[in-house]
Amino acid sequence: MSDIDSILYVILVVSGIFMPYSVNGSPSRDSYTVTHPKYDYSEEKIFQKDRNLDEKNSGLVSLIDQEITLRESSQDDDYDRGFSLFGLVETMLSVVANGLSTVVSSIVGTEKKNLRSNVNKINYRNYQLIRVFPNTEDNVADLRDLRDAEPEDIKFWSFPNLNRTSDIIVAPDLVADVKSYLRDKKMDFKVLISDIQKAISYQNPKMTKEQREDLVTTQGHSMTWKRYHRYGDIVRYLEYLAFRYPNMLELITIGHSYEGQPIKMAKVSTGLNKDGERKPAIWIDAGMHGREWIGSAVVTYILSQLVERNSTYSKLLDNSDWMILPVVNPDGYEYSHISDRFWRKTRSNHVESQEDSRYTPSNLLQFVTHYTRWFWTKCEGVDPNRNFAYHWGEEKEGRASSDPCHETYSGPFAFSEPETKAMADYILANKQHIRMYLTLHSYSQMWLLPWSHTRTKPSDYSDMINVAKKAINAIAKVHGTHYQLGPVTDLMYPISGSSDDWAKGVAGIKYAYTVELRDRGTYGFLLPATQIVPTAREIWAGIRAIARLVTCNT
Ligand SMILES: *[C@@H]1O[C@H](CO)[C@@H](O)[C@H](O)[C@H]1NC(C)=O
Ligand SMILES: *[C@@H]1O[C@H](CO)[C@@H](O)[C@H](O)[C@H]1NC(C)=O
Ligand SMILES: [Zn+2]
Repeated sequence: MSDIDSILYVILVVSGIFMPYSVNGSPSRDSYTVTHPKYDYSEEKIFQKDRNLDEKNSGLVSLIDQEITLRESSQDDDYDRGFSLFGLVETMLSVVANGLSTVVSSIVGTEKKNLRSNVNKINYRNYQLIRVFPNTEDNVADLRDLRDAEPEDIKFWSFPNLNRTSDIIVAPDLVADVKSYLRDKKMDFKVLISDIQKAISYQNPKMTKEQREDLVTTQGHSMTWKRYHRYGDIVRYLEYLAFRYPNMLELITIGHSYEGQPIKMAKVSTGLNKDGERKPAIWIDAGMHGREWIGSAVVTYILSQLVERNSTYSKLLDNSDWMILPVVNPDGYEYSHISDRFWRKTRSNHVESQEDSRYTPSNLLQFVTHYTRWFWTKCEGVDPNRNFAYHWGEEKEGRASSDPCHETYSGPFAFSEPETKAMADYILANKQHIRMYLTLHSYSQMWLLPWSHTRTKPSDYSDMINVAKKAINAIAKVHGTHYQLGPVTDLMYPISGSSDDWAKGVAGIKYAYTVELRDRGTYGFLLPATQIVPTAREIWAGIRAIARLVTCNT
């Protein structure tokens, strides 16, 4: 017991050191936000940053080691074995010391901007993707505890549920520990990817400058569906289409991201219908989560079909308008290209609300982890798909978080993010025309229906499911790909503040769906670029199959 008291004492001391930092708000927000990132790729910079990162990580890794040891030994009812209080204190003190140098340099004013806005390229060499299959309630509880503790170097790609697979990324130093932990707990697991960095390189082969120039010369833009593109390429392609097809495509900047990038939406319309009225529209967005590249590739493919092959789709275009937003979250998307391949959230920094009043760590280790991560400036960003103003912030079993450091942080308030706000404002202003709301995510091959925040079904659920069934049947006809169909709450877990719930609940769009694209976890977020076209073809077939149904007069 006295050990625990001393830990608490250390925590208090440590938080005492932390607090002035947060209260004074010394990490000046302005100095960071005004800099639109002009990413610098010079070898030297990246090398430098990798080195810094390694130094940082070594401290964290030992901290996490402690966590796992603690967890295992407390299970054995032998609290002391393998757990060194001294080690933990030492680690925390080194973290504090390193952190202090950050504070000092920020007060002195040197390096501050570099620290925040330069780009660390995270290397995932020898990180593994491990698929776990919890088949008892105890297994599920153990995994959820592990997830909630949020160790820096173990990341859950999917939430642990009974008799469903859960995919976890594990850092090289922890692979052996995690495996023996899973064996101890008698949980089935298998390694899906044994070297994540290799899979990252394999996913998206580089395009040379010559290749790019050739493409621009021959087709007027550098867009292809043989690789994943940076946001700049996507925007240039949209601009190309708007220039080349002014009679059917209007490019609208609906707002700007936190870092100042324009959020561009393509509105495709061949004019008014024969009664002289605006046609009913279908909304499709993608790229809400940075790392889910396949979604943006699929919607740009759909756009290219609708516009560049407009004669093939003349009947479809006679009956409907399309609003296509390829990248909802350009900051997160770019960040996942240049820094952390698995970045999910926006890139905002709610420094003044880092102490979200709703957030209370449920145990000591969560507390330590939270402050450690916060100190390493790893608590940037909000999950856009938890940030919409419909049942926002109702935390259902931890699937939307009030912890700014968490992957599913719902933000300090609804629509705190300029990205979600811009999208919602545009949709509200056009809601009487929009008949279907589609948002593309990945991965797991699911066609999901509201509600997401409650297990109760909407009153028109049977209409919604009948339409969705037609879509997944049409998808299956193309390449035999099977999409599961159902509410998020059944297939995954309840979440609050999601965009589909908001589209239905607030904007009143009857047909609102979230589509989780390929695959089912072989590659996960690292779906090879060779699968872009097959994925896009089948999804486009699914959407076309229902476009008529949802746009005919109701
Ligand atoms: C989960 O799977 C295990 C074994 O695979 C089985 O015994 C158990 O009944 C399943 N539980 C549920 C709720 O499906
Ligand atoms: C449809 O596509 C053709 C060929 O690309 C193009 O010439 C035509 O202008 C397009 N139609 C509209 C309304 O832009
Ligand atoms: Zn997503």
